[in-house]
Amino acid sequence: MIIAIDGTLASGKGTIARRLSRWFGLAYMDTGQLYRATGVAALKAGADLSDAKSLAAVATSLDLNDFEAAELRTAEAGQAASKVAAIPAVRAALLEVQRAFAEQPGGAILDGRDIGTVVCPNADVKLWVDASVEVRAKRRWDELRAKGESLTLDNMLAQLRERDTRDKSRSDAPMIAAADAVLIDTTDLSIDAAVDKARAAVEAVIARKS
Ligand code: DC
Repeated sequence: MIIAIDGTLASGKGTIARRLSRWFGLAYMDTGQLYRATGVAALKAGADLSDAKSLAAVATSLDLNDFEAAELRTAEAGQAASKVAAIPAVRAALLEVQRAFAEQPGGAILDGRDIGTVVCPNADVKLWVDASVEVRAKRRWDELRAKGESLTLDNMLAQLRERDTRDKSRSDAPMIAAADAVLIDTTDLSIDAAVDKARAAVEAVIARKS
């Protein structure tokens, strides 16, 4: 079984994906890590974040073991990820590794922006997770402040709006809900309630198939 979970930044999709992966015993890939690592590696190498050729080379030779988890979670890494993710050659370089992961025996859960539309259009279950931009900004702001990053909530809100716009408007694999995705709005939901909804959607598909 392949479960594709897409949605906006700080919508809760990563938490839902991790909890479903434990519940259903499926391997999990956070595909945003690939874009974050590409962005961070490019920044470290002093590469121009709009130079498609050198960024594609960075993406092709990526090894996630070369990165600390914390360095991939910073606001700067997120911004760089969103920029490199708009480059078709980078997306092409990262596509095969995602598809190979999805097609492993036993199934998998992947979360990202284009899993249900591009990476795994035939996924058994597709979820689209979203929440209001204000609620998402507050969540991410709390998370980053707890890690010692100093930025204002207004600044966080502006960054999120900028990233949403960039992710939605890029020409290659824009962030969009698949037509057959189940929508989960987490604006007013606790994590547990959001996970329950997601699990119910997966169980409905399992019941239909059996
Ligand atoms: O989910 P995240 O915040 O870790 O993702 C970082 C950036 O990577 C995000 O702004 C868009 C991009 N991304 C993407 O374009 N496609 C994916 N499947 C995953 C992430």
